[in-house]
Amino acid sequence: MQRTLAIIKPDAVQRQLVGVIISEIEMNKFAISAIRTLQLTSARAADFYQEHRGKPFYDSLVAATASGQLYALVLEKENAVDAWRQLMGPTDPAKAGPLTLRRRFAIDIQRNSVHGADSPAKAAQEIDFFFGEGA
Ligand code: RTP
Ligand code: MG
Repeated sequence: MQRTLAIIKPDAVQRQLVGVIISEIEMNKFAISAIRTLQLTSARAADFYQEHRGKPFYDSLVAATASGQLYALVLEKENAVDAWRQLMGPTDPAKAGPLTLRRRFAIDIQRNSVHGADSPAKAAQEIDFFFGEGA
């Protein structure tokens, strides 16, 4: 079994989509092995998305990520990293397939409702970010 890190982003939490997204996670046979809700400070959000530092959307991404409660989840399944990214759909919901979470629930590319780690190595790093000793 592989593990990945998923986030239900503040835009989705604010719109009360936590239940339906968790329901989709379970319907798609992911096991939820850890879950927590928290609000990141701007500094922690900036750290989480540091790979995007310098890009035009970075400041608004950090602000959106720190704007309210989010849910961080550890999901387990065979090929969990790719399977979760497939269920999310591409970054821009306008380009996402009809059954993906982003097509169904995202408002736009900035408020795209969910996050997923993009490799097994990043998954391990992001799981540590939310569930490790320093979290
Ligand atoms: P994520 O990291 O949140 O799972 O999303 P992703 O891999 O699909 O996309 P990524 O390229 O890592 O971008 C991270 C988040 O930044 C916001 N974004 N805005 N052009 C834009 O306005 C733009 N591009 C990216 C999105 O919220 C994206 O999820
Ligand atoms: Mg990404």
